[in-house]
Amino acid sequence: MFKITLGNEKGGVGKTALSTHIAAGLACRGARVMLVDADPQGHATLMFGLKKEPGLYNLLVRNAEFKEVVRTVPAETYGIPGDRLPEGKLYVLPSNVETRSIAGSVSDVGLIGARFEEVRDWVDVVIFDTSPTPSLLHGAVYIATDGIIYPTKPEMWGFDGLVESWLHRDQAESYRQNVYGLPKIKAMGIVPVMVERQTVEHSTNILSLKERFGSLVWREIPKRIIWSEASKYCRPVYSLNPQHEAAADVWELIDRVEEVIRVKQVS
Ligand SMILES: Nc1ncnc2c1ncn2[C@@H]1O[C@H](COP(=O)(O)OP(=O)(O)OP(=O)(O)O)[C@@H](O)[C@H]1O
Ligand SMILES: [Mg+2]
Repeated sequence: MFKITLGNEKGGVGKTALSTHIAAGLACRGARVMLVDADPQGHATLMFGLKKEPGLYNLLVRNAEFKEVVRTVPAETYGIPGDRLPEGKLYVLPSNVETRSIAGSVSDVGLIGARFEEVRDWVDVVIFDTSPTPSLLHGAVYIATDGIIYPTKPEMWGFDGLVESWLHRDQAESYRQNVYGLPKIKAMGIVPVMVERQTVEHSTNILSLKERFGSLVWREIPKRIIWSEASKYCRPVYSLNPQHEAAADVWELIDRVEEVIRVKQVS
């Protein structure tokens, strides 16, 4: 089992868009995926047409069983039109405003890691969608995480959010190493999103990002209206239109994620 977090302490930079598409895309490729909505906004929950509810809160604060709180997304919702139905599974652990209270109600920062051990036999990949506002819940999620993907708009505040999340990953990493003897948290990749290549601002900022982070910067995802339509119709972009350029962007992203997961599982 591999646990991935989407992090950037700036709002509106594509965390939910990428976490939901990575989860659905991996399930299409045959993985058993659990998407954990760790944001009180509950947008990852809504993305699959589910209702907001205190899934993560009940799991962590009320000690609920996974089977009580996890929802299964029908394969028709996220499969590729015209293809066979995906053989993987997509589960969502939903969120609502109560997620905000978790940090004040749970004293054990290792609780997320401990609880998710329970799903090891039936889940291959866990994906955490996080909120933009840092909290102790982020720390607990990072401590349970194997790798982090940082989406960012190629703009100043997006970069600032990225740096802040990076620092918090460092802190969580020392804690999990010292207290739990766990390995480092892998910085999997930085994904520039909503990119407008024709602007000097975005192209120079992406260049700076590459100078600073090198091959850690993954292929950029251009700004396209189909991403907004995906949230409106509660379907991934490739499901709305498998021939769309945005669909190709998603599959390339899934390739990169699979590469890291494979390497990590072998090592
Ligand atoms: N490549 C893209 N092109 C155009 N719009 C996009 C793209 N990626 C995401 N969006 C849209 O941008 C908005 C913000 O994206 P998203 O909700 O994923 O950001 P977020 O980082 O999760 O925000 P928050 O921090 O508030 O949770 C959404 O309306 C989403 O549909
Ligand atoms: Mg979000």
